[in-house]
Amino acid sequence: MRIFIDTVQRRLRRLLPAASSPLARVRQRLRRLGTAEGAALAVVVLALVVGPATVFGYGHWMDRHVAVVHARQWEFSPKVLHATAGVPLKIRIDSQDVVHGFKIDNLNVKITELIPGKSIEFTVTAPKPGTYYYECNTYCGLRHAKMFGKLIVTAP
Ligand code: CUA
Repeated sequence: MRIFIDTVQRRLRRLLPAASSPLARVRQRLRRLGTAEGAALAVVVLALVVGPATVFGYGHWMDRHVAVVHARQWEFSPKVLHATAGVPLKIRIDSQDVVHGFKIDNLNVKITELIPGKSIEFTVTAPKPGTYYYECNTYCGLRHAKMFGKLIVTAP
């Protein structure tokens, strides 16, 4: 009887790993790994997870520091932008209908071809506080002259 039970137990032990779930198999393999392999695996997993998450997060952080401006007949949205003197402000601008322009007085920004579907990104730094006006400088139809807005620059 004892021999019979031993044989059954041995057979079961041989059969069980094959019948166990994939997760149990992974756990078994991990248990077999040494400390060095475990550490290497942790580094790889960390690089795979933390790397893209950092890049993604940084992209979002950068986007929060970009002023997105849309041009359309016949207004800019938003009509008011804010910046701090001496601090670069990144502006991403696009046109939602026809070709417009974008010019900021006294800040050396002059874009004459805002082509629909193509955004343009640039950085502007106002040297001192004040209100700087921006306008459309490419004729875009009847109320072209009404397309303007202001950049309010405050002291740091
Ligand atoms: Cu828009 Cu001129």
